[in-house]
Amino acid sequence: MNITLAALVALLLLGSAYSQMGAGEQVRVINRGPNARYCRSFKTSFETMDDFKNFEVTPDKTIGTTHGLSKDKARTGSQSHKAEITSIEDSPHRGFPAVQLFKTDEGSMEGPVYITFFVYLSNLNFGSGKWLTIAEVGADDNAAPGKRYISVSLDTNFKLGYSNVPTQNVTYVKKYDTTTTFPQNKWVNVTLYVDFDNVLGITALWQDNVLIATANVNGGAGRVAQFHGGMFADNLIPSGVVYNDDLTIWQTIKADGSCPQSGTPTAFDLTTIEATNPNSSGASKIGMSIAFALAAASVIAYLV
Ligand SMILES: *[C@@H]1O[C@H](CO)[C@@H](O)[C@H](O)[C@H]1NC(C)=O
Ligand SMILES: *[C@@H]1O[C@H](CO)[C@@H](O)[C@H](O)[C@H]1NC(C)=O
Ligand SMILES: *[C@@H]1O[C@H](CO)[C@@H](O)[C@H](O)[C@H]1NC(C)=O
Repeated sequence: MNITLAALVALLLLGSAYSQMGAGEQVRVINRGPNARYCRSFKTSFETMDDFKNFEVTPDKTIGTTHGLSKDKARTGSQSHKAEITSIEDSPHRGFPAVQLFKTDEGSMEGPVYITFFVYLSNLNFGSGKWLTIAEVGADDNAAPGKRYISVSLDTNFKLGYSNVPTQNVTYVKKYDTTTTFPQNKWVNVTLYVDFDNVLGITALWQDNVLIATANVNGGAGRVAQFHGGMFADNLIPSGVVYNDDLTIWQTIKADGSCPQSGTPTAFDLTTIEATNPNSSGASKIGMSIAFALAAASVIAYLV
């Protein structure tokens, strides 16, 4: 009898939590799809460091890390960027050229961007609790990556995810895929959508065309100021190489939009990209698990 009553309470709790989520949902679809255009792009295949002149480049030989262009591997052309961990040291491993759009003649990119780049990992020796950041996207023009930036990182289980979303030092992400791991010894297509809109900022992350995660992004001012890939990793990782090739940052608009800065809208080949706001179902999943926890607590309360 008690158990039946508890189950009823549980169902009621579940129902009310669920309908509250439904009412509060804010769904914003990222679907620049076939109607997307881009205005400006920054492109590099890491064939020459001239692509990064005037930008911040970490020293090519710091304690524990080396980096630079290399002929070891190339997805296109004859070189790629290579950053290698050489030893465990006291501070994190850092090796990259930053793309500091804010230092270019046209300045930071206004509005949302897509970023595609290719990552090849090898000999990465993770221990538990370590981290490796493969990219950071910055909203302001302080030293790379800036003060407000979002990070794309690998965890110990070789799963890609975000940190610093929705706000700096906080992580609240909607994961679409929790099974795909990041392979080593293979070029992997990493694609990011980043909108630093000051009210409805959002980001989405794909690995080889699989949507991995989305998140809201707070604290931006509507533009992307800088990006870096390469190596930024836990100081206790003893070895690992990260290659980058074929990076493009596209300043995107809808087909009917006009370019916020200079430029003529140009058709775009990233036609398959589509994702929903993390709050639409991410929040309800969390709501649901809270409801389940409450329901379970009420059952337990009845039984004791
Ligand atoms: C984030 O954490 C870093 C390191 O603890 C700290 O220096 C920084 O002020 C924090 N930023 C925010 C916005 O909380
Ligand atoms: C990289 O991935 C994006 C997103 O999934 C896709 O639109 C794009 O065509 C891919 N690029 C290449 C060169 O495969
Ligand atoms: C998404 O949910 C978070 C956490 O509940 C909230 O702080 C944020 O304002 C929401 N953002 C949007 C755009 O709905």
